[in-house]
Amino acid sequence: MRLSIFLSAVALLPAAFAQLSGSVGPTTKTSAKRATKTCDVTKYGAKADKTTDIGPPLASAWAACQSGGIVIIPAGDYAMKTWVTLKNGKGVGIQLDGIIYRTGTDGGNMIMIRDTTDFEFFSSTGKGAIQGNGYEIHASQGQCKGARLLRTYKVTNFSVHDIALVDSPMYHYSLDTCTNGEVYNMAIRGGEWGCLDGIDVWSNNIWIHDVMVTNKDECVTVKSPAKNILVENIYCNWSGGSAFGSLGADTAISQVVYRNIYTWKSNQMLMVKSYGGSGYVEDVVLENFIGHGNAYALDIDQYWSSMSKVDGNGVQLSNFTIKNWKGTEANGASRGPIKIACADGAPCTDMKISDFAMWTETGSKQTLTCQSAYGSGACLKAGTGKSYAMVTSTQTAATAGYTAASMAADLKSAFGTTKSIPIPALPTSYYPGQKPISAVAGA
Ligand SMILES: *[C@@H]1O[C@H](CO)[C@@H](O)[C@H](O)[C@H]1NC(C)=O
Ligand SMILES: *[C@@H]1O[C@H](CO)[C@@H](O)[C@H](O)[C@H]1NC(C)=O
Ligand SMILES: *[C@@H]1O[C@H](CO)[C@@H](O)[C@H](O)[C@H]1NC(C)=O
Repeated sequence: MRLSIFLSAVALLPAAFAQLSGSVGPTTKTSAKRATKTCDVTKYGAKADKTTDIGPPLASAWAACQSGGIVIIPAGDYAMKTWVTLKNGKGVGIQLDGIIYRTGTDGGNMIMIRDTTDFEFFSSTGKGAIQGNGYEIHASQGQCKGARLLRTYKVTNFSVHDIALVDSPMYHYSLDTCTNGEVYNMAIRGGEWGCLDGIDVWSNNIWIHDVMVTNKDECVTVKSPAKNILVENIYCNWSGGSAFGSLGADTAISQVVYRNIYTWKSNQMLMVKSYGGSGYVEDVVLENFIGHGNAYALDIDQYWSSMSKVDGNGVQLSNFTIKNWKGTEANGASRGPIKIACADGAPCTDMKISDFAMWTETGSKQTLTCQSAYGSGACLKAGTGKSYAMVTSTQTAATAGYTAASMAADLKSAFGTTKSIPIPALPTSYYPGQKPISAVAGA
């Protein structure tokens, strides 16, 4: 969906879209591509028998349609034994209405699209999915092994939408060095482990919205380098949570907005994770966050113990606007809703926290901690200055207005890592009270 359509159609958008640097999405409509040519994988040897390898037929169908047209994977169950790298496309789409089941055991990327422009990967029915059956790889090879389901690399003017990515062996979808992309109406559901990230993005001018993620690692996470990223209407439905990072040397992240982020039973609502390193993260807005049952809420940790220290004084964080955070955290005494530990070698500046009201689900107190962090609100020191040791304040009464809506269908227990994970239907809402920005296909 072209951004320009929304700009004319919806009044409240310009402020948010300032975050993007221009249009996102394919430049040719799906219907026009379809009128140019269609390449049905079943005409190139694919069979919906859940046995025949769809890899070579998909590559052949791409070759036939890559300079204009739509590759069609009709409804049905397909096996994928060998992976494909689909490149040099222009004005091409892949319509995934069937379900691709991983049967091969290689690492890498099951489907990688690269060096392509004016591209769309979508389901016309909202029923298309890639089922990675990661639990089988986890049983035979262990954690952090096997393939990613989908990667777009150096793709410009594109969209990925209305599909489900399920139980990846390792990571679900990465946007690597892409430009002008839109990712929306997606359900991502993985096992309860690390290395099963939902969406990782290091790219330029990308709009990610209306996405649900279940796993125990990244929900929607920005990595470096990244610029002009807008992430909204995200439902981390039992996940690790969203983050910036992990960040190391020469970090370059700017102009990022997260808004309408609902996080349930995750490690955090939003984390910045680094240890040492250099470069910057700046001009960030984190607004309208609701959390329930999470360990951390806002967790800026520039001494993150899960990574090795990287050379450098620390990544410089500046100009963060953090506002309208509501809900409850699991245990505010052990893990308070605001933990800001900035690098002593690069104190955070211009961090602004307002309208932040969260309360603990366990006990009757919670802590706010700040270290080497300047700005306004919470425990931040005013002005600018040198490093300072961690200061902790304790709240013993809830701040008024902390209560916030829950989603009706929060996941009650995790999927684990040893059993098959069912393919979900695409949710019809990704944030309390919000409809998806574009209608969900097939809804
Ligand atoms: C992407 O789209 C923009 C217009 O929206 C256009 O200016 C640009 O040339 C396109 N990029 C490519 C690689 O086609
Ligand atoms: C801070 O970031 C916001 C959001 O990107 C931006 O609009 C604003 O201009 C930035 N402020 C400064 C002083 O750079
Ligand atoms: C959250 O996840 C659970 C399990 O996948 C699912 O039953 C529920 O429908 C999800 N919520 C939404 C709104 O889709």
